[in-house]
Amino acid sequence: MPETAKAPDYYKQKYWDWFAPVYDISVKLNLSPFGGEKKMRRQVIAFAGPMAGYKVLDACCGTGTLTSLIAEAVGSSGAVTGVDMSPRMIAGARKKVKDSPVVTFQGANIERLPFPDEMFDRSFISFGLHEMPEAARHNTLKELYRTLAPGASLFAIDYNLARGIAGFGVKTFVKLFETEPAYRMLLADTLPREIEQAGFSLKARRMLVGGVFQVFHARKPSGAGGGDGRE
Ligand SMILES: C[S@@+](CC[C@H](N)C(=O)[O-])C[C@H]1O[C@@H](n2cnc3c(N)ncnc32)[C@H](O)[C@@H]1O
Repeated sequence: MPETAKAPDYYKQKYWDWFAPVYDISVKLNLSPFGGEKKMRRQVIAFAGPMAGYKVLDACCGTGTLTSLIAEAVGSSGAVTGVDMSPRMIAGARKKVKDSPVVTFQGANIERLPFPDEMFDRSFISFGLHEMPEAARHNTLKELYRTLAPGASLFAIDYNLARGIAGFGVKTFVKLFETEPAYRMLLADTLPREIEQAGFSLKARRMLVGGVFQVFHARKPSGAGGGDGRE
């Protein structure tokens, strides 16, 4: 399969390749007031539950911090695929997983995944959806749906408009440092509706690190496509 694919118009290739070498330190610093990045990522893995032996997709994997935790969780009988458009993000991710035999990376547009239907037992997308305009988010959620086995689960992590001072902080941060679609998505809280519009049923919504981030658990119905996958 090709290592790179044509980027969509909204995708800032140069920006992501430039950001890649300093991405981890920037995330660490930004999350330190909220208990730290490790805590937030561990909360996500705990919320997702056991996945030993699963085939898992990490969409928009970036530098692979979550990918490496998923790899630990699936163990030697599982498999993890990280997908991102930025070759430099993927280069950082490869280093992080230290050539783990259960992890592979693919350079691809998440809106057109180069994988067959129903291939994965579980999918994650962490801080990827807010990077896209609404139509691209819809294409992405449909692709995540298509590539999941019936009955299998998606975990989508993103910003949340927390209450009080934390909410003011997250709103200001997204306004200043993220895109206009990200700000609109945050203010109007559109993700639950968008996830359901892609065909998923929303099982749970859990706040992370004081409510400035959130994780959605969404499930592809068991009847979809006939089979019954692992939730
Ligand atoms: C904010 S980073 C999140 C990285 C990682 N998931 C994390 O939790 O730290 C967003 C990532 O999404 C990737 N991305 C954005 N749009 C994409 C698309 N259409 N296809 C593939 N990757 C995309 C970017 O290259 C970047 O690495």
